[in-house]
Amino acid sequence: MTTASTRIAILFSGTGTNLRNLAAHINAAHVPATLELAICNRPEAKGLDFCRDNNIPHELINHTDYSDRADFDAAMQTALQAADIELICAAGFMRLLTPEFVNYWQDRIINIHPSLLPAYKGLHTHRRVLEAGENTHGCTVHLIRPEMDEGPILVQKQVYVFPTDTEDTLAARVMEQELIAYPEALDIMLSRLRG
Ligand code: GAR
Repeated sequence: MTTASTRIAILFSGTGTNLRNLAAHINAAHVPATLELAICNRPEAKGLDFCRDNNIPHELINHTDYSDRADFDAAMQTALQAADIELICAAGFMRLLTPEFVNYWQDRIINIHPSLLPAYKGLHTHRRVLEAGENTHGCTVHLIRPEMDEGPILVQKQVYVFPTDTEDTLAARVMEQELIAYPEALDIMLSRLRG
């Protein structure tokens, strides 16, 4: 499908560094996309302030209000369809999605993860990389598949792990790369979707 611009939704749960970065990228004149909706599952998420302050259409869909994942995903689906969304970017969205939801959005939902997938799926990646004594780490943007942190890789960025690194210094170095990787991956998706 090719409309004037691709209608994007961003899912997030927390600080919203990637949310802010993606919003800026989408708003750039040369990017054929519009940010139509941001969905957050946590009322305390700092990213919600950014949405309010910048007039980004957003919905708080608090997962604790729902009895199970299917109900929560159904509420997201209603909001996404009402906004006529074409592409979803998960950006620090810390909820597992049901296979039904993921399959509905097959190849139209992407995620950023703070590791060099397939290594270090799951949580606390920076700590685990340090504990394992790795000397490389990084981030991955990938198409989402039903299995957690699985799916074809769009962009990967690598960083060196210094012996003096702490979880915080390493997280900051990886985040610098996340801010480069996600716009690159989004551009790949846009050119693919827009044929
Ligand atoms: C980012 O580092 C992102 O890669 C990670 O959460 C952080 C969100 O930060 N995502 C995951 O761990 C997903 N499995 P942000 O809200 O400041 O962008």
